[in-house]
Amino acid sequence: MEIKETSFQIIADLLIARTGQQLTENRRWRIGTALSGVCRESGVENAEQLVCLLADTKDPLLERKIVEALLNNETYFFRDKPTFDQLPQDILPLLAERRKSSRRLRIWSAGCSTGQEAHSIAMDLERQQAQWADWSVEILGTDISQHALTIASRGLFSQFDVQRGLSILQTLQHFTEENDGWQLSDDIRKHSRFMQHNILDRPPSSEKFDLILCRNVLLYFDTQTRVHVLERLFSALAPDGFLMLGSGENITGLSDNFAPSNGRLSTYEVAPGLRYSSAISAAFSHADNTA
Ligand SMILES: C[S@@+](CC[C@H](N)C(=O)[O-])C[C@H]1O[C@@H](n2cnc3c(N)ncnc32)[C@H](O)[C@@H]1O
Repeated sequence: MEIKETSFQIIADLLIARTGQQLTENRRWRIGTALSGVCRESGVENAEQLVCLLADTKDPLLERKIVEALLNNETYFFRDKPTFDQLPQDILPLLAERRKSSRRLRIWSAGCSTGQEAHSIAMDLERQQAQWADWSVEILGTDISQHALTIASRGLFSQFDVQRGLSILQTLQHFTEENDGWQLSDDIRKHSRFMQHNILDRPPSSEKFDLILCRNVLLYFDTQTRVHVLERLFSALAPDGFLMLGSGENITGLSDNFAPSNGRLSTYEVAPGLRYSSAISAAFSHADNTA
């Protein structure tokens, strides 16, 4: 059922206020379907009535459920393979060289959805076990959706999920089949931790990350919000770290803080002119944290 203009506007305003995500006119037809589960749970018949219920009750839990239902959580293991393959083949070995004195690596999967991106990196690290054996490697996955994060931490995926991006060998290597799906092994899960975080806010840690993946998240923001998020990501990235975006995203006209990384796909580094000042500020923030 087509949603009326006033209700559409209320829902679109709510989504943008909470997440920065735009509900464009061409996603309007999806609203009824996306909200059908919340309607059922709340005992109302359609999105129009749901908007009225929210207006009457101002229930924050209902508001959160509506926002979560409208987010696009699409993801899969090793998404955009040519881009992802750069990690084990090129970027992780380069970071191993750059961090060989500290033997510490920090990775942030920003807008991680149900965790496939973080867990795919963990599988890469596990394949390169000899390299990373005595390192401290942390993968932090963050998302605004608590529902998505629960799945990410639990590591229980459907048959459909494991079929997308994983070979049969990888599935059997890293998962066990259970009644209700495929359980990811502790060996892979142990590499990642997940927490709720709004990417519009300050980064989730004052310590810099060596690699940030923020893929297929900027897509739904307007230009001004993209500029803002890229500022946030810049402030979280080590001066010699890497930022990876989705294959349909780029920084053109949005940020001068980053420059494309030497022929790599969807990958950026701190712009050469800023590396020195960024390194100084990173050193000060490190000193503040250890004082
Ligand atoms: C399309 S998924 C992309 C998942 C993964 N990065 C990938 O490329 O496969 C976008 C994710 O961004 C999250 N998201 C949207 N707005 C956000 C915000 N303001 N803060 C944090 N996460 C957000 C959504 O909940 C969703 O899980």
